[in-house]
Formats: sequence, C-alpha cells, structure tokens
Amino acid sequence: MVEAKPHWPSPEFAAKANIKAAEYEAMYRESIENPEAFWAKKAQRLHWFKPWEKVLEGDFSKGETRWFSGGKLNVAYNCLDRFLNTPIKNKAALIWVGDKPGESKTYTYQQLHKEVCRAANALKNLGVQKGDRILLYLPMIPELAIFSLVAARMGVIHSVVFGGFSAEALQGRIEDAKPKVIVTANAGCRGGRIIDMKNNVDEALYNSSFKVPHVVVINRVAADTHNYWKAGRDLHWNDLIADPDLSFEFPCEEVDAEDPLFILYTSGSTGKPKGILHTTAGYLLGANLSFDLIFDHKPEDTFWCTADLGWITGHSYILYGPLSNGATTLMFEGIGTWPDPGRFWQIIDMHAVNVFYTAPTAIRALMKASPKFLQRHNLSSLRLLGSVGEPINPEAWQWYFKNVGHEQCPIVDTYWQTETGAIMITPLPGATPTKPGAATLPFFGIQPVLLDADGKEVEGPGSGYLCVKAPWPSMMRSIYGDEERFFQSYFSQYPGYYFTGDGARRDADGYYWITGRVDDVLNVSGHRLGTAEIENAILEHTSVAEAAVVPFPHDLKGQGIYAYVTVKEGVPTNDQLKQEIIELVMHKIGKIVRLDVIHWAPTLPKTRSGKIVRRILRKIAEGEFANLGDTSTLIDANVLKVLMEDKAKYH
Ligand code: WTA
Repeated sequence: MVEAKPHWPSPEFAAKANIKAAEYEAMYRESIENPEAFWAKKAQRLHWFKPWEKVLEGDFSKGETRWFSGGKLNVAYNCLDRFLNTPIKNKAALIWVGDKPGESKTYTYQQLHKEVCRAANALKNLGVQKGDRILLYLPMIPELAIFSLVAARMGVIHSVVFGGFSAEALQGRIEDAKPKVIVTANAGCRGGRIIDMKNNVDEALYNSSFKVPHVVVINRVAADTHNYWKAGRDLHWNDLIADPDLSFEFPCEEVDAEDPLFILYTSGSTGKPKGILHTTAGYLLGANLSFDLIFDHKPEDTFWCTADLGWITGHSYILYGPLSNGATTLMFEGIGTWPDPGRFWQIIDMHAVNVFYTAPTAIRALMKASPKFLQRHNLSSLRLLGSVGEPINPEAWQWYFKNVGHEQCPIVDTYWQTETGAIMITPLPGATPTKPGAATLPFFGIQPVLLDADGKEVEGPGSGYLCVKAPWPSMMRSIYGDEERFFQSYFSQYPGYYFTGDGARRDADGYYWITGRVDDVLNVSGHRLGTAEIENAILEHTSVAEAAVVPFPHDLKGQGIYAYVTVKEGVPTNDQLKQEIIELVMHKIGKIVRLDVIHWAPTLPKTRSGKIVRRILRKIAEGEFANLGDTSTLIDANVLKVLMEDKAKYH
C-alpha cells in the first residue's frame, strides 16, 4: 500500500507547541521505561490534600491497578478552588451555547464554584453523602456540568446517562447504579425539537425494581411537558435553591486517590451495557495531561469539544481536562445541522474558538452541505482541530484540513475509549507529522501492541488485535458491581494484556491506523452499540423468531446497522412490519439506534453448536461474496446462497 505523504506541522505552530518534536521521543521513552517516576512527576500538576505513598500497585494481568495509593485529593478542588486565588478566578470557565441561536451564558471560575457549592448544599439537604450515587439524565445545559462537579466535590459517584436514551435504557442503568437522586429536566431542546425527559424518568421508575428516593427536576422549557408528578419524590430544582440561607460555601471532601469518581455505561459485545468505573486521581491526571499536551493548551484559548457529556469524550474533554487546566471550555446544547449546517461555523465565529474537537460523522455530514455555510463565517481564530470516535476517512480528513482549518491547523486524530479514560494514540500537534486517517503514535505512558491470532506480538509493520501491555493512570478500574465480567471482558482473551476490542495496522513509520472493532460492537455515527442489545430489542417483536445484527459501511454514519430477521411461521413480511421493528428498537434503546436495513432471512447460518455466524453475515451485508471464509462448520451452508441472492433486494 502506498502511504500518504505526511503533513508536517507548520514551523510557526511547532515553535510555540507545548511539546516539541525533539522532546517527544525521549519523553515517551522515559514514560514507558520508568513509568512510576514519570507519573509521579506529572502528578505534581494536581493539587493534593495529602501526597501519595505508592505510585503504582497491583497485578495488571488480573486487571488490578492502583495509582497514587494513600494520596488524598478532590476533583472539584482541582477544577475550581485552586484557581480562586489566581487571575483565573474571573476567567470564563464555561461558555454555554443554547440550542436556539443567540442563547448563551458564561460562568467564570468563581461563579461556577459558587453554583457548585450551593447545589452541593441543596443535595446534602436531601441526604446525599459520600459514596452515594447520583444519576444525571439531562440535556446539555450548564447544570449537567455543575452537578457532575457537585458529585466530585461531595465524594459522590456520578453516572451521566445520555439524554437520547429511552426510558427502558435508562431503567437498566438506574437498576444497576441504584442512585439516591436522579437529576433531570422537564424537557430538553435539541435541533429545534423538544425532548421529553421527565416522562422518560417517570416511565423508567415506574418499571424499575429499584425505587429512587428523589428526582430533582430542572425547568429547561417554560411549559411543563410531563404529565405526572409524584409528591415527595419529585422536587423542583427552583424550590430547592430558593432558600436564601442556602450557603455558597461547601467544603471539598478529601477523597482517596482510588475512590470512584464516576460510572459511565457503554455497550459491550454481549449482554447489557457495562458500567465502566473510573476512580479519582489516575483519571484526573490522564484527562489533565492529555488535554494540555494534545490540545496544546494556551491560557488564552477557547476550546470546544462538540461531544455530549453523556459520553466519555464529554467527561474528559468538555469538563475535567479543560477545567483542571484552568481553560475556557465551550458546551453546546444543540446539533451541527440546525437551524442550518452552518451552526458549528457560526459558533466558532461568534466565540472565536481556537481549538475545535469533533467526530468524523459530523464532518461528513457538514461536508455535504453547500460551501456557503462555511464561507459566510470567519474561522480564522482556529489553530488546531481534533477528531474522535471512529476512524476518519482520508477524504473527510482532507476536507476538514482544507476547508475548516484552511491548511493552517494541525489535526489530531485521537484514538481512545470509555475504558481508557483519556486519549491513547494521537499526534501531538507541533511534534508529530500527520497522515490523513492515521491516529499515529502512542501518548505518554501508553504501550500499544498488535497481537496475532495466536496472541503473539507482531513486530514492525503489520496488523493485529490492538492491546495495551502496561497499566496507565486513567484506565478503568472495574465494571461497576461485576469484577468477574471486567476481567473476562478485557484481560482474559490475551493474558497479560488489556484488549481494546479494536483491530489496527502499524506502518513502516510505526504509525497506528485503527481499522475498527473486531468484536460484536458497532460504531454508528461514533456511537458504540452492542449487537446483542439491538438483537434483543428486535426479538421483543411478537412476529420475530430470530435476528442477527451486523455493521456495513455507510457514507455518513461510518457504519450502518444491517439486521437479518427471521419471522415466525406464517407471518407476512412487509413494510409495515419493517417499520414496526425499526420503531420498536428506537423505543427500546433510543432514537440514535435506527436500523438501516432489514433483510428478511428464511433462516440464519449457524454452527453445529447453534451459534449464529455473524462473521459471514457481515461479509454478505458488505457485498463481499467472494471470500466468505470457512463455512465448513455450518449446519446448512445452503442458506448463504439464498441470503446472497436476496441481498440486492434490500440494499
Ligand atoms: C472507536 C470514544 C478510530 C474505537 C472516545 C473504540 C476510534 C471506540 C477513534 C470507543 C479514532 C474512537 N479512530 N476509531 N480516532 N476513537 N474510536 O468508548 O472502535 O465511545 O474502541 O469512546 O470508538 O468508543 P467510546
């Protein structure tokens, strides 16, 4: 394969970059040869109430790692309080931009601090205390950031659930996390539409086996859209903070370095979503250092990450990374295509955004719009661009580079996962020449390896299963409440390694090119979805006997969802049934999960032990009929012929 020509960072950018090209290699070597000394030095960046006794402990091969044992700190203190006696006090911490054009609100560090303290007092009055969980099911409003920081301040574990998830998806997370309080909004606004949130909470709690003592409701829209109010349980946020005696002071809980900070649910290849558990010091250090070096933080920057706080990208790069660096972070409630596809560019123009971090799926959608939406805005404030969530195709990369960055801005294609807490493989702007489509080189302290089918490390250029060979501070510590599943999911396939679930290629320059998931996880528009979750939702339809879901290449979404469905005997297959199944899945999981193709299958290919062979179904969905791989283990290989013949009818 011909490798793309590297793009060198401009000399002007490189001269001012936080990490210079000459520094990367030596610093990287130090970080992996002597990780404890490296991370001990970097941990000085944080504020500690009590220093740690031991930098690293635990048996990585079992998934056990503890960083900075014995140390005490507080994440909210690191994000707010430590700046209060500095000139940062009156700097914008959070610039919030509403869905409706023109709506925005700015909080300085000092204002955010006061809001957080007051809200912490209100939650304390509800009996919330250290070690409890609170669940945040909110639109992208400032309160989502505020309540996350409240939890951190109190030593309470937060679990943010993306506002686009359905009542049923929410219910599963409530039952797993057992929160003392849910904070929600009467409704959300996104892309000009009103989204029922309180109604979803009501439905989830009606069906939930765990009864949540309190639901705090923030009024985001003027009119109440919900139709139920449970006295005693449901409380208006405005009432809780109406008390003029509510203090604006709230002491930070001094928590242990390894105390949990948050749980964030994400899809795996089997079963229900996993509650990824992150702890305090290691996570914060990972978010803090990676933000500073990868986004080349400068005190005067306005940084904008377009993710939702319901995903890890929002946690690390809207909230904890920027604020713990004293940066200005922009938080946007809406979407890039409403009221028109110029919305992102308008916001960049209006707020003079310097660093912009988004997903390939957004770039592809905006690439298709008329150039006039870009041309009418001044994007000259931009100096650095980022991409995350899925492999970026070189065409989108080039478009982003030319049209958004005007060939002046380096692009950091950042590879990482909910589980890793912070970016793992990425260029360092100013130091790493980039190649469109490559995530390039490992970040400090990260030792990626490629393993072959036998679990042996691939040396030099080659492809394999992407694993990590040594612990890093911001790695997940467990699956909430399920140690065994944690070990099985990440440390059992290749003993001694953390397995990412992704495949990758390494080129002659040692650059990594992520090729995508090798397990049963789909990546649709940068959202992680488990095939099992989607299949289970389809199977809830009374007409369906069997279902198998696989990804297929999709121009806009990266991957689309292709479902093979076998109906029960005698059931007619028609458009109405198709529509019912599509709607059922959206209702069960959330509107982000829209089936693209339903292929009526007379039966599904299975092994003699009854396992559906998704590997072959995926090839058929991709139209790759020539090389289906080994079919000798199938009970009835004839079904493949039928599926291939029919494929053209569906897609
Ligand atoms: C994919 C999002 C290629 C990958 C931060 C990973 C990427 C999954 C990239 C994690 C990238 C993320 N290039 N693929 N730059 N970034 N991925 O947990 O498959 O929502 O395993 O975390 O997204 O998704 P998650």
